[in-house]
Amino acid sequence: MAQLFDGKRGLITGVFNKQSIAWAIADRILQEGGECGFSYMPDKPDDPRKKNLNRIEKLVGGNPQVAFVQPMDVTNDDHIAELMRVSEEKLGKLDFLLHSIAFALPDDLKRDTVETSRDGFKLAMEISAYSLIALSQAAARILNPNASIVTLTYFGGEKAVPGYNVMGVCKAALDSIVKYLAFDLGPRGIRVNALSAGPLQTISGRGAGVEEMLGLYEAVAPLGRNISHAEAGQSGAFLLSEMSSGITGEILHLDAGYNVMGSPGRMLDQIKEAQTGT
Ligand SMILES: NC(=O)c1ccc[n+]([C@@H]2O[C@H](COP(=O)([O-])OP(=O)(O)OC[C@H]3O[C@@H](n4cnc5c(N)ncnc54)[C@H](O)[C@@H]3O)[C@@H](O)[C@H]2O)c1
Repeated sequence: MAQLFDGKRGLITGVFNKQSIAWAIADRILQEGGECGFSYMPDKPDDPRKKNLNRIEKLVGGNPQVAFVQPMDVTNDDHIAELMRVSEEKLGKLDFLLHSIAFALPDDLKRDTVETSRDGFKLAMEISAYSLIALSQAAARILNPNASIVTLTYFGGEKAVPGYNVMGVCKAALDSIVKYLAFDLGPRGIRVNALSAGPLQTISGRGAGVEEMLGLYEAVAPLGRNISHAEAGQSGAFLLSEMSSGITGEILHLDAGYNVMGSPGRMLDQIKEAQTGT
C-alpha cells in the first residue's frame, strides 16, 4: 500500500533524545516511508564519550531510511553550510525541512521577563527565532518546488504565559518569521508553517515549566486532557506532507483546544469550590 512519505526526502533538526518532538515527527515520517537526514547539537570537543552523537545513533542507527547524522550548531554558519552540502550529497533535493530548535539560558527562563539580560535575550532570539531564517536561507537552494518547512512554536508567543518569559518573546518572533517566510518562498511553491504544541515532557519542556502546565491544560482544555508525543508526530508529519498542500503561513494549534478558551472553563468549578470552601 502507498504510504504518505513514499519517495520523499528531508532534513530533521532538533532530535536530542527519544522524548524530543522532532523525534516523534521523524519517527512517523520514517514509518510512512520517508527518507531522512538528521542534524544534532555537536558534542563538546572535550567530551570523549560523545553523548549527543551516541544518543541519536541509538535512535536511528541501522535504519536504511536514514541517510546521515551530521553535527550542526545553528549559531554557526559554517555548520549550516556543511549540513546543506551533506544533505544535497546524500539526499539530493529536499521535500521537507523540520526546524525544532530552541534555547534560552536557564537563568533568563526563570527570571521575570522584565529582568531578562541583554546577552541572554540575544542568544535566545538567535537560537530560537533567527535560526529558522538561517536554515531556510541555506536550504532554499536545495528545496524542491512544493517543499514544506515546519517549525515548533508555543502559545506563549501569542499571549502572556507566566513562567514562559523570554521564550514567549522568541516564539512571537518565530510566529512572525513563519508568515514572512511563507510570503517570500510562496512563489516557489514552498510552504512554511508552525505547529503550536501543548506541553510535552521533553528536556527543553522541563526547563520551560511544562510540568506545571500539564495539570492546567487537563483542567481547562475543551478535550480535558493533554496531547501525546504520537499526536505531535502525526500533526507534524501532516504539515510536512502533501496532505497539507494549500496551507502556508499557518500556526496550527495542537493543544486539545486550550487556545480557544477565554475563561478557565471547567476549572471554574474548582475555583468556586475553593472560594466557598465546599
Ligand atoms: N516540549 C514542549 O512542551 C513544547 C511545546 C511547544 C513547542 N515546543 C518547541 O519544540 C521545539 C523542540 O523542543 P523539545 O520540547 O522537543 O525539546 P528538545 O530539548 O528535545 O529539543 C530542543 C532541541 O534544540 C536543540 N538545540 C538547542 N540549541 C541548539 C543550537 N545552538 N544548535 C542546534 N540545535 C540546538 C537541542 O539540541 C535539542 O535537540 C522547541 O522549539 C520548543 O520550544 C516544545
